[in-house]
Amino acid sequence: MIKHEVAEVGEIEKGSCKIMKIEGRSIGIYFDGENYHAIRNVCPHEQAELCKGKFTGTTLTSKPHEYIYGMEGEILVCPWHGWEFDVKTGKSLADPDRYRVKIYDVSVEDNRILVHI
Ligand code: FES
Repeated sequence: MIKHEVAEVGEIEKGSCKIMKIEGRSIGIYFDGENYHAIRNVCPHEQAELCKGKFTGTTLTSKPHEYIYGMEGEILVCPWHGWEFDVKTGKSLADPDRYRVKIYDVSVEDNRILVHI
């Protein structure tokens, strides 16, 4: 596993994503305000550039006729057909056992953000 420097701390603003090529793979580095996440920029549905979608929240499981919004900033919504993915696990919210996007470990060392591939 190689650590690739992708940015300096402070370069990626809260709620935004920097997309770059690492070892031939397009990867989005997203900052949720506390942690950095590295997500493969390919949707498993029809290969849209997933990381160009919105980072948002979703409606949580609740009782009938009850709508509770949560997980703000933890959900990536594909720009083509709206599939939702958890940025921490890469799993699809609709079918987590079948669809997921590759995520990578991220570390911060000496003010540098590193993606492990
Ligand atoms: S390509 Fe992402 S939901 Fe269809």
